[in-house]
Amino acid sequence: MYILTEEGRKYLEQGLPEKRLLELLKKGKTTLPEAQKRIAEFSIALLWAKKNGWVAVSKNEIELTKGPENFPEQEALEKIDKNEGVPENILLVLLTRKLIEEERDDMKKKAERFVGKEITNLTEELIKTGLWKKATFREYNVSVPGKRIYPGKRHVLSYYIERIRKIFLDLGFQEASGPFVESSFWNFDALYQPQDHPARDLADTFYMKNPKETALPEKRLVDEVAKTHENGGITKSSGWGYRWNPAMAKSAILRTHTTVVSARMLTKIEPPAKVFCIGRVFRNETIDYKHGAEFTQIEGIVVDENVGFRDLLGYLKEFYIRMGFKKIRFRPSYFPYTEMSVEPEVYFEEKGEWLELGGAGIFRPEVTVPLGIDVPVLAWGLSLERPIMLRLALNDIRNFYYKNDLEILRNIKLW
Ligand code: PHE
Repeated sequence: MYILTEEGRKYLEQGLPEKRLLELLKKGKTTLPEAQKRIAEFSIALLWAKKNGWVAVSKNEIELTKGPENFPEQEALEKIDKNEGVPENILLVLLTRKLIEEERDDMKKKAERFVGKEITNLTEELIKTGLWKKATFREYNVSVPGKRIYPGKRHVLSYYIERIRKIFLDLGFQEASGPFVESSFWNFDALYQPQDHPARDLADTFYMKNPKETALPEKRLVDEVAKTHENGGITKSSGWGYRWNPAMAKSAILRTHTTVVSARMLTKIEPPAKVFCIGRVFRNETIDYKHGAEFTQIEGIVVDENVGFRDLLGYLKEFYIRMGFKKIRFRPSYFPYTEMSVEPEVYFEEKGEWLELGGAGIFRPEVTVPLGIDVPVLAWGLSLERPIMLRLALNDIRNFYYKNDLEILRNIKLW
């Protein structure tokens, strides 16, 4: 890009000096002092006129010999002013005559290009050079729809996990976590789930090939659990009445519920304690819109000699209220590790339906006593995805894990 220098601009307006001289001489020869008087920049004019062989100077007189038809330099000045292209040889002449210069890309120049024009963007250059004061800004058209932008946003699952985490922390719970690959001992046996329980079946549980086995915990603990299964051991119960097999307890699996984290925690805490865990679990399900082979559970225990069944219902109710649900009810249920057992349900106004959300209960002594706890333990394991799906009208659980549909992730209103 080339622009006119101050001198170049003057010649654009008044004509090149040699052009003006020639126009004067076309009317007839004249004396040097006369020409000097009539032509500004006479010495420049004379220099170029002589160089081109247009004039003859004798004694005190100057006259035209053969004038050119046109002035390419003059035309070039006009073109450069209009930002049009100019032949290179002429550019060179104009450059050496310092009538044009290469446009330096400095702020002032950038900014100056806007002055006098209606501008839409306030640029860095306009601000720094102060030229914004001279600029005319185009008014906003507030009726034109804006461009849709998608700033960073939390994934719907991590958003809810964060919110739920906050609810339990606010209620004074501590957070726990555990491994995805677990031993059957912790996932089933420690929870008093008999070894022929259908949930242990290959059709429901993923068994690992590698590692195929896990180590059992300390012998004392294993013995207590074994005896409890067989005949009730140190608990007052009569047990399941079968021969407990340590090999089965060793098999490595993908945890099927986060209740396994609660079982492990029972050996680590001193009552009173409140512990929660939000974690991924795995079940050997055929994947469809309602079922994933993995999903997330919200687990919790309250370990305290002063709590009972009503406290359990109270905690669950409080949790769902803080999640924004208004109507909560409880249905009797059954789990091998709890007595009493309930299934909390919340009411979905939009659908006019009750939705089952998971399980809860008070751990049986067959669970707690072998693990070293002799006070009531309230426990629950709740679905994370089900209420979110209904609430956000997401009708396919695969959206959470497998689909990554950007359209949905971007447009979903999280809360
Ligand atoms: N573990 C049960 C499930 O996965 C839920 C549950 C947890 C039930 C704790 C009772 C107590 O469905």
